[in-house]
Order: sequence, then C-alpha cells, then structure tokens
Amino acid sequence: MDDVYARALRVIPKGAQTGLRSEIHFPEPFVPEKAFGCKIYANGREFTDYILAFGPIVLGHNHPEVNEAVREQMEWGVLFGVGVSELEVEVAERLVDLIPSAEKVVFVNSGTEATFHAIRLSRAYTGREKIVKFEGCYHGWHDYVAFNVHPPENMMGKIYPQSEGIPRAIWDLVRILPFNDCEAFKELMAEHHDEIACVILEPIPHSVGTIIPKKRFLKTLRRETKTYGSVLIFDEIVTAFRHNIRGVQEELGVIPDITTVGKALGNGYPISAVVGREEIMSLVHDGVLVSGTYSGNLIGLAAAKKTLEILERDGVTDRISKLGEEYRRALKDVLEDLGVTARIVGYKSVFAIQFAEEDVVDYSSVVNVNGEMYRRFVAEMRRRGILLTPNPMKRCHLCAMHSEEELEEFVHAFGDSLKSLGLDIFTPKTS
Ligand SMILES: Cc1ncc(COP(=O)(O)O)c(C=O)c1O
Repeated sequence: MDDVYARALRVIPKGAQTGLRSEIHFPEPFVPEKAFGCKIYANGREFTDYILAFGPIVLGHNHPEVNEAVREQMEWGVLFGVGVSELEVEVAERLVDLIPSAEKVVFVNSGTEATFHAIRLSRAYTGREKIVKFEGCYHGWHDYVAFNVHPPENMMGKIYPQSEGIPRAIWDLVRILPFNDCEAFKELMAEHHDEIACVILEPIPHSVGTIIPKKRFLKTLRRETKTYGSVLIFDEIVTAFRHNIRGVQEELGVIPDITTVGKALGNGYPISAVVGREEIMSLVHDGVLVSGTYSGNLIGLAAAKKTLEILERDGVTDRISKLGEEYRRALKDVLEDLGVTARIVGYKSVFAIQFAEEDVVDYSSVVNVNGEMYRRFVAEMRRRGILLTPNPMKRCHLCAMHSEEELEEFVHAFGDSLKSLGLDIFTPKTS
C-alpha cells in the first residue's frame, strides 16, 4: 500500500483524484482493492464502508444484478452517440413518472454537468444572469456554483470562492444567502428580482452533514420565485432515489421548476439528469446548448434502469431510512451514557457525527464543529474497521447491505473510540 501511494504521489496530485479522497490518506494512505455490499477492502483489511463513494452506492457496492444488466448491455453497445436509443426513452419515461417536477429529461454524466445546464437553462429562460445560492450547499465544481460551500468563519456572508482560478467577473453573478432565512431571501428578491435568473439549493443540505429545511423557508422560496419569474432549482443529486424514489420535493411540499438528479440513480455507474418543466426544458437544442459525447451512454442507462427497478421492488429506501433512524437513536444513547458532548444529525439513510452542541439550522451552526477532534475520532474508528467520511463537515451513508449486525459493530466501535480518546477532550470549539 505504501508503495502504491508513493507511486501515486509521483503521478497524481496529492495522490488522489479529489480533495476529499486525499483527506482519506490520513492517518495513513488508503488503497482500496475491491468492494462488495457494505464492505470495502483496502490495505489488506476489511472495512465497513459508510462513505459509499459519497452517496451513489445505495444498493451496495458491486451489485450483482446491476452488474449483470450492464454486462448484457455491453453485448449490444456502450455508446451509440447518434439518434436516440429505446433505453434512453425508457429511463426518461421512468423519471417523468417518478419525479413530480419532471416533464422532460436530459441525461448527462455528473452532478456538476447537471447543475451547470440547469443554471444555463434558467438564464436563457429568464434573460437574467445572477443566481442565488445558499451557504453550505454544494452543487459541483463549475465556476458558477463553487462559492461558499465551506467558507471559514470570517468569510461567512461574503462571497467566498472555493477555488482559485474562478474569474472575478463571475463572483458578481452569485448572491450568497444563509439557508433557512426567509427574511434575507425576501429582502434580496424585493430589491434585485429583475436580475435573478435562478435560486439553487440542496433541499436538504447534506454537504454540511444535514440541515433540515424549515417548511416556511421552502414555501417562501417557491412563492417569491413564482412572483418574480425566477427559476427554482432543487439539486437532488444526493437526496433523489436515496431518500425517496420520487425525490424529496413532494414530501417537503414544494415542487421546483428544475431538478437535478444523479448519484443513487446509477448505484455507482456514472449517470445524472436534468429534469424539469416543459416550458423551460424545451429550450434545449432550441437556443440552449446541451451536449456531451458520453451523455446518454448505455452503461449508465442500463445501470439506472436496473437500480430503479430494485429500489422499488425491494423497498430499499424505506428500509435504509428506518435503519438510519436506528443508527441515530443508538449513537445518541451512547453519547448520553458516556456523557460526551456531540450531536448526531441526519435524515433517513444519511447521518453525521459532529463535535458541537447547538441545533443546526444553517451553515453558521455547522462551522463550529471541532474538526481536529473529529479527525482523531475517525482515525480511531478506522482502526476498528469502520470507514467514515474524513471531513468533519461531510456525512455518512447507509446502503441496502447494512443491517443490524453493522449497527451493533458501529455502536461498539463508537463507544470504544470515544473512551480511548478520553471523554474530556470532547468540548465543543465554541465553549
Ligand atoms: C448536492 C450535490 N450536487 C452536485 C454534486 C456534484 O456531483 P458530481 O460530483 O457528480 O459532479 C454533488 C456531489 O457531491 C452534490 O452532493
């Protein structure tokens, strides 16, 4: 493993394809070799995986039925790149049936591409240029959205690019607001509505663990965008199919104009989609450029068709949602028994352990987590065969292959890790 990592450092920046993956090389390099179900095998050891590639793996790694569907498709072709295939139509029809805001569908390969196209479409539709995004929400890495995902405390509320290299001119096109703040949003719309092309958000921001949206907040976004003619975009890249096969929009009581979906749609195979109202989506190829050599590739589509079938057939979403509640309850019990100050946040099959205490309503209540403590805790859990997200702001996931057995293993490791670190160290940064 050290050898692979040393070679990686020579040819791959920081020895990983993404910044988050490079964080996993702490406390030691992590070199995975194979993954099945909820287990990932790395460094000659077995780990129970709660990262699950940051969300796509909802049925379990390397799912035999999904793999078989992909293998069958490979016999017929993986990329036609001309016209339209029946498989494309079938999966698009399925999404139109499932997602309340979907009247038309465009397939792409990543969440970043999907949010890019959603924003371009909203600009074309409204003839306006600015976008509103919320602090703590992530919508991919492109220049229009890579702002204020995890700003340092002193940059909260100010425009904060998450990357160097984003042209200054683009900073002026993005307005940042706190999540769950109806008044701030209403004020901005009252003053600047004629500039705002779209409002984009994760309806349940999981890029900072979990923020539960206030009902009134989502209703305010819907009402104001309708009044002023801006496009409302729900980025359901994490939530759709994982939390609800129809996306969370219906259960949250607000239907957006455009929805972006991906991740759990393909159970690990690359596929994502922009879905939305006919009136906006009809601009595609009619003034609005949407393209991509690999868009609508048959590997992603075959995986998506089979994944949707299994999610529905096996009631996966309900089962992992209930298991998520059990995890949160059990972990809270351990904290209480040990008298440790930390909070367990989450929604359905997503959860996060945060070393801080007050309730989470927006990014400002997340930025206070004790990151150093979290990293030491994650290292202890890893020693015990449990793989957690390395970043204190991020989240853990469950899949259909996690069970009561893994829950029991987790609870033991959790208690042991906290004890071995010494309870008194878990004082939140703010106190
Ligand atoms: C809510 C959300 N939107 C968009 C993206 C970007 O997706 P991708 O990494 O597939 O480009 C992510 C990725 O984590 C995400 O969580």
